[in-house]
Amino acid sequence: MLAGKVITIGVTGGIAAYKAADLVSLLSKNGAEVHVVMTGSAREFIQPLTFETLSGRPVVTDLFNFSEPGRIPHIDLAARSQLLVVVPATANIIAKAACAIADDLLSTILLAATCPVLFCPAMNTNMYTNRGVQRNINLLKELGYLFVEPGFGRLACGALGQGRLADLDIIYEEIIKSLWYEKDLTGTKVMVTAGATREAIDPVRFITNRSSGKMGYALARAARDRGAEVILVSGISELKTPHGVKVLFVESARDMHAAVLSHFPEVDVVIKAAAVADYRPKITAEHKIKKSAGVLSLELERNPDILLELGQLKKKGQILVGFAAESRDLLRNAKEKIQKKNLDLLVANDITQPEAGFGVDTNIVKFVYPDKEAVELPKLDKLELAHRILDEIIKIR
Ligand code: PMT
Repeated sequence: MLAGKVITIGVTGGIAAYKAADLVSLLSKNGAEVHVVMTGSAREFIQPLTFETLSGRPVVTDLFNFSEPGRIPHIDLAARSQLLVVVPATANIIAKAACAIADDLLSTILLAATCPVLFCPAMNTNMYTNRGVQRNINLLKELGYLFVEPGFGRLACGALGQGRLADLDIIYEEIIKSLWYEKDLTGTKVMVTAGATREAIDPVRFITNRSSGKMGYALARAARDRGAEVILVSGISELKTPHGVKVLFVESARDMHAAVLSHFPEVDVVIKAAAVADYRPKITAEHKIKKSAGVLSLELERNPDILLELGQLKKKGQILVGFAAESRDLLRNAKEKIQKKNLDLLVANDITQPEAGFGVDTNIVKFVYPDKEAVELPKLDKLELAHRILDEIIKIR
């Protein structure tokens, strides 16, 4: 699975250093070309020989050890690596990277690398939650560095809390994710909408729908992982916001309309996975509506149809992808929408199927095109579907 992939593992000085040996073994067994760089402190915890045996390559430790004349180890490794993983990552290496300090081999490679860098922190829980450490982590995240959050549990020092190295299967999955997809959306600006809108009736009540944001957030993560610059316009969702993505939170359909329209001129692709309320209460009561005898009627008025407007404004080269949540006549309704809204692709989900549509982790959809037969897809995890949608977008371009 990892044949042809060059991965550099940077090991720093923490008790979890021994777990890096299992990771090196796993990556090597899966065919990766693994290089290991150890800091001086890491060598206090584990011998280079362990990594040499598991990776089948010499471990590099010294900035000034030029074993091959004319080859500068830190530049060479940084240039060849397709991924750099720092595991375990101590507070010290995180701080050095955040301040661009290069005073040993690993910190120098980190500065010279242009490939993705994945930090896997592991440290005492008070150190991990220390504001300075968190500031450094956040700074690195803002700069596009990737992190695998440490897990909770009993730490080597006896404390209970967050700080233990994430499970190896999680780290492995993150590595696959960072390597697997081509960065085929580099230079592309993608706007994704996600989640539900909320239309206020009074200060405490509102009209909304069952969208969790899972489909839209998966699209944002997938586009980010493929190199796109991503703007996620998120309605209501309880999901953790994806790092490396610009997130604009909105509440009502009109808020979403304003956010999407203001960024539309600068983006190449829009994917509208949000479930937008078609109607809102004509009047939002200033005070909580009191109950009274008899029927209460709410008068509703139309919200702007954001996608319809985008279809009218679309410039040559811009790609517009819509979703259709249908409970009957899926294809007929979808074909009508794609024409009316001037879309390049419509992802039609039949929301009556139990593992499709709102709230669930999977989706079952048909791709509907303006000029050719629709294609039916099998049940897919929403992240996998997100990548299939991006594959289609790349074909359309
Ligand atoms: O968030 P999840 O729980 O993961 O669920 C995912 C989903 C079911 C919400 C998603 O897959 C989906 O189908 N999203 C679109 C839902 C929807 O509003 O469908 P629609 O047929 O009503 O709208 C068609 C398209 O027009 C959509 O792209 C919608 O974003 C857009 N629209 C709709 C109304 C409106 N006023 N403005 C719009 O832009």
